[in-house]
Amino acid sequence: MQPFSFATTAQILCESGAAQRLASLCRERGARRILIITDPGIARLGMLDDVLPAFTLARVGVAIFSDVTADPSQNCVLAAVDRARHIGADMIVGFGGGSSMDVAKLVALLAHPACGQPISELYGIDKAKGPRLPLIQVPTTAGTGSEVTPIAIVTTGETTKMGIVSPLLLPDLAVLDAVCTLGLPPAVTAATGIDAMVHAIEAYTSKLKRNPLSSLLAREALRLLADNLEQAVYNGGNLPVRQAMLLGACLAGQAFANAPVAAVHALAYPLGGHFHIPHGLANALVLPHVMRFNLPDALTDYAELASPLLGARLQAGDRESRSEQFVCELAQLGARCGLPNTLRDAGVPRESLGQLAQDAMQQQRLLVNNPRALSEADALAIYEAAY
Ligand SMILES: NC(=O)c1ccc[n+]([C@@H]2O[C@H](COP(=O)([O-])OP(=O)(O)OC[C@H]3O[C@@H](n4cnc5c(N)ncnc54)[C@H](O)[C@@H]3O)[C@@H](O)[C@H]2O)c1
Ligand SMILES: [Fe+2]
Repeated sequence: MQPFSFATTAQILCESGAAQRLASLCRERGARRILIITDPGIARLGMLDDVLPAFTLARVGVAIFSDVTADPSQNCVLAAVDRARHIGADMIVGFGGGSSMDVAKLVALLAHPACGQPISELYGIDKAKGPRLPLIQVPTTAGTGSEVTPIAIVTTGETTKMGIVSPLLLPDLAVLDAVCTLGLPPAVTAATGIDAMVHAIEAYTSKLKRNPLSSLLAREALRLLADNLEQAVYNGGNLPVRQAMLLGACLAGQAFANAPVAAVHALAYPLGGHFHIPHGLANALVLPHVMRFNLPDALTDYAELASPLLGARLQAGDRESRSEQFVCELAQLGARCGLPNTLRDAGVPRESLGQLAQDAMQQQRLLVNNPRALSEADALAIYEAAY
């Protein structure tokens, strides 16, 4: 067996309604002053209204930073750090999607009184020295898995994002409470859910670091997500379905945190950078075309994933037949969930495809994990097929 290492969030609480107990969860961990990091959409929906009164009862001070923007910028992170320092926060809670959770991770690090590093020193792998403040994450989308990844993504330029990767960013506790995802609109449910499925698929085929644990988690994640995605999109008030999605996204997060994602993400990032296409939708648009490209080198893996993806609908057959069913199913998924099906429908101008292919090549950190080597010409052909 290949040697491997596996790291994840220390504690995961998977329980519908658990966010109601957030105050006591913080108090049990010794917190006196908490900063909750969230975004304006979540604040406007009043999603924290049920959670806050208990803080007064538990005599735990709480403040809210609700200015997180989608694909948060460095300035957004720094504003949240200022707020945490200003109130003397001794614990940080991320309450939201990947954007809020990523900001919360960096605030936990940068707002610690003993942290002498500026954010500019943190970009890349293992640059953070710590220590950090205690960190709890409450995801309100079932997608990024940020509650169990050692990664925070920051928008650093007009069209560029950079990652900060450090084991210090792994939270202390993830609270998976499906009540927090009940109001997620269908299009966001679909896009974030497909993002999570891609995490599972790309972790399962990850070339360098795949390992028995990541593969186990990826299969189970894909099963949960595929079984429940359409129900979550079209019947969003179904609590057990939402809980299954949240768990699926979390397991997929654990898988890809240890066996990183590959070409689907590499080709999706430039779509987000140039055209602000939401991350999950960008993944969904290129997914079947990258799968078809990978097929010659990933046949066995895709045949294995056909069962968790299709469940009882999988027709018996050899490896070729099962992997073909796998790719065909993924090609129909976005449209079945009401998402645009082509780059053209998503508003991408055809003349931008060359630039997109060039930019995708910058994502070598991800491309090295792809089961099949991919050149700029291949990337262009994939974008053209997706157009
Ligand atoms: N850290 C990681 O490992 C990791 C992995 C993948 C992506 N990311 C990052 O995560 C971010 C994307 O996160 P995301 O896809 O979760 O979206 P998001 O956090 O940007 O939220 C998207 C929108 O959904 C709304 N929303 C969230 N929860 C809701 C709810 N329950 N009800 C109603 N509306 C709700 C928000 O208000 C927001 O408008 C990007 O910045 C991406 O780069 C991080
Ligand atoms: Fe993703």
